[in-house]
Amino acid sequence: MTLSVLAGSASPWLAARVAERLGMSLGRSSLQRFDDGELHVDVDERVRGQDVYIVQSTGSPVDTHAMELLFLADACQRAGAARLTAVVPYFGYARQDRRARGCEAVGAAAMARLIEAAGFARVVTVDLHAPAIEGFFRIPVEHLSATSLLAAAVSATASSVLVAPDLGAVKLAERFQALLHLPVAVIHKTRLTGSMVEMRGLFGDVRDRTPIVVDDMITTGGTIASAVTGLLAAGCRPEIRIVSTHGLFVGEAATRLNALPLRQVTTTNTLERVTDWPAQAQVVDVAPLLAGAIGRLHRDQPLAELLSHT
Ligand code: R5P
Repeated sequence: MTLSVLAGSASPWLAARVAERLGMSLGRSSLQRFDDGELHVDVDERVRGQDVYIVQSTGSPVDTHAMELLFLADACQRAGAARLTAVVPYFGYARQDRRARGCEAVGAAAMARLIEAAGFARVVTVDLHAPAIEGFFRIPVEHLSATSLLAAAVSATASSVLVAPDLGAVKLAERFQALLHLPVAVIHKTRLTGSMVEMRGLFGDVRDRTPIVVDDMITTGGTIASAVTGLLAAGCRPEIRIVSTHGLFVGEAATRLNALPLRQVTTTNTLERVTDWPAQAQVVDVAPLLAGAIGRLHRDQPLAELLSHT
């Protein structure tokens, strides 16, 4: 079975890098919009009988990118593809992983059902907001971790301290700790509005240390702004580093982060740069991680060392 890599409009640059690392060109796919907004997708007829990997993050505009992923799968199936894998480096709606209040949709579960129904045999994704989302799928989910790539890129020193900016980031901080051998501090955070958060407490010693704040995603920058303010008040050195797999940087995020004493904002290219990014942004390429996973899956080889275990 021949390997083929296709892209939607969310991740063309990353998909091309993945294909290049696999020693091939991206397969042809065409995505057009009719005047009424409807999507039209067609793919190369050579996908017949192939092992097809569709690379598409479901970042903003989330629904547009999700629909493209589903239509690409439909086109490939109808064209006779032998096996379809959704490669979703950033999985949108991941923060909707449960009902926080009574009558809410669980967006991540709805997305999982749609992806399954579209005919995918498997999903490959990176640093899910909530690892338990894997359980929303009945098909296999290969949950890759970008932690090693990020840890290698961050400039840590003996005076550094890893900081989880909320309780949800503690496991992630522990993964970095295993690689960087640094102490961990944890912030107790409360969200006030969509873009405003407040620090309620800090556990761990940050005085005279240089913090490395680790999170799965930066959206409006509210979490980072609050964490940085709190860490400075607790006596850390004003040389703060931020590490986050997914850089969404929506709204005023870049302006907000630019106003902080940050040395480095390290993120990856799971999302393409469509908004302003902070001046200190340093981008780590996840194409080697994705290409490694795709190559192994295609050859039916294990990929244990690429997976996230939390
Ligand atoms: C929340 O649980 C996530 O891990 C991030 O901390 C959050 O999504 C970041 O959002 P923002 O940048 O808007 O504070």
